[in-house]
Amino acid sequence: MTALQHVKLGTYYVVHMPEPDDFDFWRERARALVQCDVPPDRIAWVEPGGSGDLFAHGERRMPVPPADAGPVRANRRFIALAKNAILHSDPQRFAQLYLLLWKLQSNPRIMEDKADPDVRRVEELDKNVRRDSHKMHAFVRFRLVESEDEEVGEHYVAWFEPDHHILRANAGFFMRRFSNMRWSILTPRGSLHWDTETMSEGPPAERSDAPGGDPMEDLWRKYYASIFNPARLKIGAMLKEMPKKYWKNMPEASLIPELVAGAQGREAKMVEKGALEFEERPDTLEAIDKAIHACRKCPIGALDNHAVMGEGPQDASLMIVGEQPGDQEDQAGRPFVGPAGQLLDVHLEKAGIDRRAAYVTNAVKHFKYVQRGKRRLHQNPGAKEIDTCRWWIESERAIVKPKLVLAMGASAARGLLGKTVSISKVRGSPIPLEDGSELWVTAHPSYLLRLDGPAREEQARLFDADLAAVRERLEDLA
Ligand code: URA
Repeated sequence: MTALQHVKLGTYYVVHMPEPDDFDFWRERARALVQCDVPPDRIAWVEPGGSGDLFAHGERRMPVPPADAGPVRANRRFIALAKNAILHSDPQRFAQLYLLLWKLQSNPRIMEDKADPDVRRVEELDKNVRRDSHKMHAFVRFRLVESEDEEVGEHYVAWFEPDHHILRANAGFFMRRFSNMRWSILTPRGSLHWDTETMSEGPPAERSDAPGGDPMEDLWRKYYASIFNPARLKIGAMLKEMPKKYWKNMPEASLIPELVAGAQGREAKMVEKGALEFEERPDTLEAIDKAIHACRKCPIGALDNHAVMGEGPQDASLMIVGEQPGDQEDQAGRPFVGPAGQLLDVHLEKAGIDRRAAYVTNAVKHFKYVQRGKRRLHQNPGAKEIDTCRWWIESERAIVKPKLVLAMGASAARGLLGKTVSISKVRGSPIPLEDGSELWVTAHPSYLLRLDGPAREEQARLFDADLAAVRERLEDLA
């Protein structure tokens, strides 16, 4: 039986939803209705824009719960499911959720009953919405639009057709991910606009409102072609993950038939070093910051993470380079703020180096991880990923022009030198860099964190000695 079939002839409480995704409004109305003991078949939930005429003849005013009304039961599982399921485009969802809330009052354990058809229906709604959000995260493609208004500058616009009312719920994801870009996401259900500081909403859009193609698309196509591994081609799995309906909005999709057709005969060919060159080196730190957020030169940037820009004075004499942002840095958008950063701060202070006077950055700009349940576990970047990201560290060096660069750990050293070196062999003395500056290499503070006992003490001593040598050298160069 569908929720609507519960509605009988007679009088109804008609709830006009102001927004299709307004969970708080639904919750407030549903709570009052439960407290007034109104059964599901006495309520008509009307979508925004819906007339509700069908029920007008018998419409009753919303009841006011009595002062001594008892609490409404709604456990965490129900709330979590309902918050997401309400985004579904099924017009029955409000009624369906009420029906389940109603049943929960007499059966508090109903959410554990996997066979209950109303629990299953809400779970299904939730699943469909999650899938739609996942597709949106994966398949929104921004296209660069140059505004004629110089003040506005670059603007990235994406067109996406969600199945459900997921736009507002996913605004935070895109805001965090592309915080330094000015962007708009246009959909037939509404639009979002981010100007790097504030988010605003706009009316539904049409496909023709979004631009058709730009140089960013070529970059995507090249990247996609380079990571497309014919040896691993599974067309069924690919279609499941990337349903055809999204292809029309994805620049790389135009390559798929060609790549698939040629796959059998071709050798697997992965991203070649330097295959994707940017045309011009950015000449300000702001430009680098903006560009790294859009960077997909290697697959790390396509994970659910944010680029983390270096920080510190633009004319710093010392540049400190780590490996890549960790989980906390990814969330904070700043380098070395997590446990390794805290340990680094302690040792820098001990050595008499003022972190605020240094430019602190990473060899790789995005956090590489594997998801394990709720945790994101750090993964070392590969040599190719470090080499690809050298473009950015070199760009930062060209602007900051530090006299001395301190690379912490093997990845950082590779990011500066373009080759792998053994830390124990190169630490303690300077390596001249091509621009006349000096590279000093030491261990990464995370390495110290992984040790304990005498081994930790020994490594901490070596680390302190390296930092002290750097401070002395800086004084010489001042
Ligand atoms: N480790 C790094 O290498 N960099 C950071 O920013 C944080 C941890």
